[in-house]
Amino acid sequence: PAPPLAATPPMGWNSWNWFAEKVTDKDVRQAADLLVSSGMRDAGYIYVNIDDTWEGVRDQNGDLHSNEKFPDMKALSDYVHSKGLKLGIYSSPGAKTCARFEGSMGHEDQDARLYASWGIDYLKYDLCSFHNGVMRKDHPGDSPEAMTFQYKAMREAYEKMHQALLKTGRPIVYSLCQYGFDSVWQWGPEVGANLWRTTGDISPSFDRISLIGREQAGLARYAGPGHWNDPDMLEVGNGKLTLDENRTHMGMWAMLAAPLLAGNNLSQLTSETTAILTNREILAIDQDPLGKQADRIYAEGPVEIWARPLADGSVALAIFNFGEQRTYMRGISLHLEQAGAASGWRAHDVWMAKDLGPISNTLPITVPRHGSVILRLSK
Ligand code: GLA
Repeated sequence: PAPPLAATPPMGWNSWNWFAEKVTDKDVRQAADLLVSSGMRDAGYIYVNIDDTWEGVRDQNGDLHSNEKFPDMKALSDYVHSKGLKLGIYSSPGAKTCARFEGSMGHEDQDARLYASWGIDYLKYDLCSFHNGVMRKDHPGDSPEAMTFQYKAMREAYEKMHQALLKTGRPIVYSLCQYGFDSVWQWGPEVGANLWRTTGDISPSFDRISLIGREQAGLARYAGPGHWNDPDMLEVGNGKLTLDENRTHMGMWAMLAAPLLAGNNLSQLTSETTAILTNREILAIDQDPLGKQADRIYAEGPVEIWARPLADGSVALAIFNFGEQRTYMRGISLHLEQAGAASGWRAHDVWMAKDLGPISNTLPITVPRHGSVILRLSK
């Protein structure tokens, strides 16, 4: 039997956060090359995902074609596969995608067959212009009855593409993007989702990143092997994020067992960004085979502590400082018991790559502004 899809959170690269609607065939090939040369592929980043704006016209038979930016999708797919990588693509259950390109409504089977014929391994299915525009990103004033109706139609549309993908016989990771509507984490697995976005769009701003991260509290029990909460793609290396901010972003996503889709321009990778994206101990937390997402165990003002159990019996514990001042942990308990650990366990500081020896609930450390400390605790 084929191995289960997304047994650990999918890792790769996606074109949207940096290239947005400008992405071309050349950019995707270059991203594939750079995933290999940077060592990212070997660290686990294997999906190369083309986001919105690749779509062209539908011919008289209803067959969709890629547009002039992607002259030969099969050739691109062969190229990506020749590098030991996998190829992802994007569509919408509506008539139009979010960037107003051709969506899959009414053509689900045809599109799924097309993806399979190209050798596509991953589909992001983004809720845009759905139901002739009835379902919008914001729906102020819609009655509960109208919402129930729309939610039902939305679920059916996601199930429709699920069935279409199954019929192709090709294993294709199914990524839902509908911003968490109707508590998608409760029903995502029923429509075959391997991951589902839990929020609106991320941006390369620390405020946005930390807000999204903090909003994931309470969702841990819905994630597990094969089906993950998705707090959106990485902005590590984008915008003007500082070293601490990039690490906090990456560390938080790892604690959240989040899919790790780098969203930066790989041709501008710095050694700092590469080191963050490929940190082996951080990736081991994200990809831990137990698949237990972190829960928040302490929050007071800007300081939060999150913890997750790991397959080898150790515990990952993260202290985040979202505030504008550095914080002394002297007066703040680590809450080791709530984390599933205990006083006397040994701590390893992941970003510092340093053993701290046995610890207690009072750890005399400083967490910088927008910074974090991630500890791997073991008996
Ligand atoms: C939505 C999604 C983004 C991206 C764009 C493309 O905003 O949330 O991740 O896919 O659409 O148009």
